Amino acid sequence: MKLHLGLASLIGGALLAAPASGDVHLRPRSNTPKCINPPSTLSLSDPPYENYFYSDCNVAAQAVITSPLPDSNLSNISPRLVVAWPAGNSGACAFFAPQDGPNGTLSIELLNSTIGKPLAPVYNASSIGTQNPSVGIQGILRFNSSAILSLPILGSIRTIRDFVEGASIVYPEIQDSLEYTSSSDGSASIHRLWLDNVTTTSLSFRPWNSSNGTSSNGSVTVSNRTLAFEAGEYLFSAEMNYPQLSPLKPNAVLNAASANLTKDMPDQTTALSFLSYSEKLLAGAWRFLTYFGRDSMISALLLEPVLSNGNGTAMEAVIGAVLERINRTDGNVCHEETIGDYATWTNLQSNITSIAMGCDYKMIDSDYYLPILMQRYFLDNPVGRTRVSAFFNTSAGSINPANQNLTWGQLALANAERIIRLAEPFTKNQTRENLIHLKEGQVVGQWRDSEYGIGGGRIPFDVNTALVPAALRSISQLAKKGIFKEQKNWSKLSDQYAKIWEDKTLNFFEVTVPQSKAQNLVKSYANASSFAGPNHSSSIDKDVTFYSLALNGNNNLSKVEVMNTDDCFRHFLLNTTNNAQLSTFINATATNIRRQFPAGLMTDVGMLISNPAFGEDSVYAQNWTTGAYHGTVVWSWQLAMMAKGLELQMGRCEVTTNFSMMKKSGGKVMAKAKAKAAVPDFCTDDSIFENVKAAYNELWDSIEKNSDQLSTEMWSWVYQNGTYKVTQLTDLPAPPGLSGQTESDIRQLWSLAFLAVSRNEDYK
Ligand SMILES: *[C@@H]1O[C@H](CO)[C@@H](O)[C@H](O)[C@H]1NC(C)=O
Ligand SMILES: *[C@@H]1O[C@H](CO)[C@@H](O)[C@H](O)[C@H]1NC(C)=O
Ligand SMILES: *[C@@H]1O[C@H](CO)[C@@H](O)[C@H](O)[C@H]1NC(C)=O
Ligand SMILES: *[C@@H]1O[C@H](CO)[C@@H](O)[C@H](O)[C@H]1NC(C)=O
Ligand SMILES: *[C@@H]1O[C@H](CO)[C@@H](O)[C@H](O)[C@H]1NC(C)=O
Ligand SMILES: *[C@@H]1O[C@H](CO)[C@@H](O)[C@H](O)[C@H]1NC(C)=O
Ligand SMILES: *[C@@H]1O[C@H](CO)[C@@H](O)[C@H](O)[C@H]1NC(C)=O
Ligand SMILES: *[C@@H]1O[C@H](CO)[C@@H](O)[C@H](O)[C@H]1NC(C)=O
Ligand SMILES: *[C@@H]1O[C@H](CO)[C@@H](O)[C@H](O)[C@H]1NC(C)=O
Ligand SMILES: *[C@@H]1O[C@H](CO)[C@@H](O)[C@H](O)[C@H]1NC(C)=O
Ligand SMILES: *[C@@H]1O[C@H](CO)[C@@H](O)[C@H](O)[C@H]1NC(C)=O
Ligand SMILES: *[C@@H]1O[C@H](CO)[C@@H](O)[C@H](O)[C@H]1NC(C)=O
Repeated sequence: MKLHLGLASLIGGALLAAPASGDVHLRPRSNTPKCINPPSTLSLSDPPYENYFYSDCNVAAQAVITSPLPDSNLSNISPRLVVAWPAGNSGACAFFAPQDGPNGTLSIELLNSTIGKPLAPVYNASSIGTQNPSVGIQGILRFNSSAILSLPILGSIRTIRDFVEGASIVYPEIQDSLEYTSSSDGSASIHRLWLDNVTTTSLSFRPWNSSNGTSSNGSVTVSNRTLAFEAGEYLFSAEMNYPQLSPLKPNAVLNAASANLTKDMPDQTTALSFLSYSEKLLAGAWRFLTYFGRDSMISALLLEPVLSNGNGTAMEAVIGAVLERINRTDGNVCHEETIGDYATWTNLQSNITSIAMGCDYKMIDSDYYLPILMQRYFLDNPVGRTRVSAFFNTSAGSINPANQNLTWGQLALANAERIIRLAEPFTKNQTRENLIHLKEGQVVGQWRDSEYGIGGGRIPFDVNTALVPAALRSISQLAKKGIFKEQKNWSKLSDQYAKIWEDKTLNFFEVTVPQSKAQNLVKSYANASSFAGPNHSSSIDKDVTFYSLALNGNNNLSKVEVMNTDDCFRHFLLNTTNNAQLSTFINATATNIRRQFPAGLMTDVGMLISNPAFGEDSVYAQNWTTGAYHGTVVWSWQLAMMAKGLELQMGRCEVTTNFSMMKKSGGKVMAKAKAKAAVPDFCTDDSIFENVKAAYNELWDSIEKNSDQLSTEMWSWVYQNGTYKVTQLTDLPAPPGLSGQTESDIRQLWSLAFLAVSRNEDYK
């Protein structure tokens, strides 16, 4: 039988409104399984987006209502409802348009009501014993004028993103299976059976009157596969019957010592809980409510001090999810999983009838985070140390069938073997060719994974100067402690490799611009990009040094000469020992952070991740704009990693700590000598150390000033009336040649890093 879910049943059957269509099932409220904990909700306003999160033991979902503001760019912003479920990375999306008026005149909003504030759960047990319950959310939606539902997309968030971010792509296989129904109680619904022939997503609307909660003089009608609404209020419901994930219990997200954070930073801990499941941690809401390897590992590295440890906790969810999805043949870490309806659709594109999940392996950076994170957990964490054997003996394949018959330990080994193999050529001959390149045919491969992220560069800075050596150091440690015990020589070999990668890669990327040329470049950039603020060129008091984003860029650029924040990877992940190199490097980082944009990276809205002012080719200013996802914009987690990285480097200067630790294990004289040797030169060079300390504090001042933004994915700005103003990317034009604009997630896993990263008052 066809699954029809009438609205009366969607509100728990408490209302005895007569269902019209034959197979609507009224169910008493008591059928909903009781939850021990109260529902967790979060309402976040970020105009033109209003975000609402709802989760309880039966369902987790997010609703995003978009309603154009008077100054919204109507080619990017239109009235829209998105409902996103972490389960299956699923979603329902409806675009609305005014029925009569011009674009921009229809506004929509969710209201607090007797139904929910504003959301309430939907739970409908299946009438077919074997099927999952249909679960979702409902609430009251108000239209200020008559409207049509111009486009529904039901099924996967990926299908919705292909429309929203791609060139308005819709797939006939998916759109043609939409079914429209209307009922005599005045409601109208759209249903879609997924390509798996099992799951159904439904989106329904019923006229509503909040004064008495039962009826309304509004109406919704179905005509020619379009819903038409009179102005007024409607009870909407979005539901689907795909199996839900297993949420981590609150005390399995944070460790006991960090439990207070739920009181001190309730917004961030609620968001973290919404993103935390025993199967995986999710990268961000709403666009990335699923597994992303890089995002979850960077998050775990930054959040490790506050995350829970042990079986069934956040740390193990992250590492387990990564291992489960490794390519067994070559040890490659999965970047993004393809699951739910989009997996079946993707398989069909290869003429395969299967609902099996898939993985995208195009990124090159993700491999390297894994051993680093394994070291942090299985060697440095006391709970993690006790978990090695149980964890490594876990059978793979329960989520990713491609890895059946292997253990997580074997997959970890495959990853380490890959890293050693890829790192070897450069250790033999330090040429540009032997550096790690993006994969053939890909323009992305590390975290700046948008069209102009690294400017077409083939050899990214972060991977080559930081991730490879840090991963090698960790493999060496893991081998030394018997975790890769089969590989007897790795403990030594991997350390030798690491030293070469640490010391011999930075020079390839270094750029030095003479002072007067640098000043002129900054002035002409300010003119060319019509930057309305002061150009700060006079703050350039010496030659400018920075490190290219990548090598071998577009337009035959040998180096992609964009000043950037990727220095933070080296500061956060490595204790390098080549003193001359480290002093120059950390001093350059500090100077570039401290200088105001466009002479440097600092602005009133935070430290920018890119500054193209020092590139001579006009292509730099054209492509790294305020409207580019990785342009002259701010990313929260980069602020966190830079702050933590500088703190760790300054921590190396504390002789007393090293000294007292060594005193315990050796003679006094030996200890002194050793401790002294371990302190980097920059620590005793006052001009550099003070520069680093000042950069650290100025960065923290700016982080504190922008605390409202920190949990969001990223933000941009406009300069108006003498000040910077935080601005949505979708209010700015996309960079040249891109059809769609990117929408920043309201909450992003790695942007929650400030739960664990805070200012070290010792450096004030
Ligand atoms: C109005 O908005 C719709 C959907 O966003 C778009 O397709 C259409 O082109 C717009 N019409 C005008 C006149 O701008
Ligand atoms: C809706 O209710 C919530 C919870 O009581 C409250 O925080 C919020 O301010 C209300 N919103 C409006 C628009 O009244
Ligand atoms: C779903 O049913 C259709 C029609 O019977 C069939 O062609 C298709 O292969 C089925 N899909 C799956 C994933 O089983
Ligand atoms: C609810 O209120 C509306 C208008 O306020 C009215 O037309 C309708 O009859 C009322 N319905 C009930 C069941 O009281
Ligand atoms: C129904 O919609 C289709 C596609 O939008 C359109 O071509 C057709 O003319 C419409 N039919 C009526 C009766 O409005
Ligand atoms: C939690 O907060 C309470 C009250 O502020 C304090 O007494 C307690 O020490 C804190 N616990 C931890 C682990 O920080
Ligand atoms: C896994 O790696 C092998 C060897 O590099 C490759 O041939 C295969 O296509 C990869 N699998 C996937 C799903 O990408
Ligand atoms: C799938 O099958 C169609 C029809 O037989 C064929 O044209 C197409 O090339 C096949 N696609 C793939 C990826 O094999
Ligand atoms: C975690 O605990 C569960 C339940 O006790 C057990 O079944 C599972 O094997 C454990 N997993 C690991 C990796 O230790
Ligand atoms: C796992 O082993 C079983 C039994 O030998 C075999 O049928 C299955 O294909 C294997 N799975 C994979 C992914 O290799
Ligand atoms: C290193 O590579 C360069 C450039 O490919 C080559 O000319 C040189 O002979 C190589 N050196 C060694 C020791 O292999
Ligand atoms: C670097 O040194 C600091 C302080 O001395 C230490 O806390 C940190 O763990 C070290 N990091 C690495 C990657 O070895």
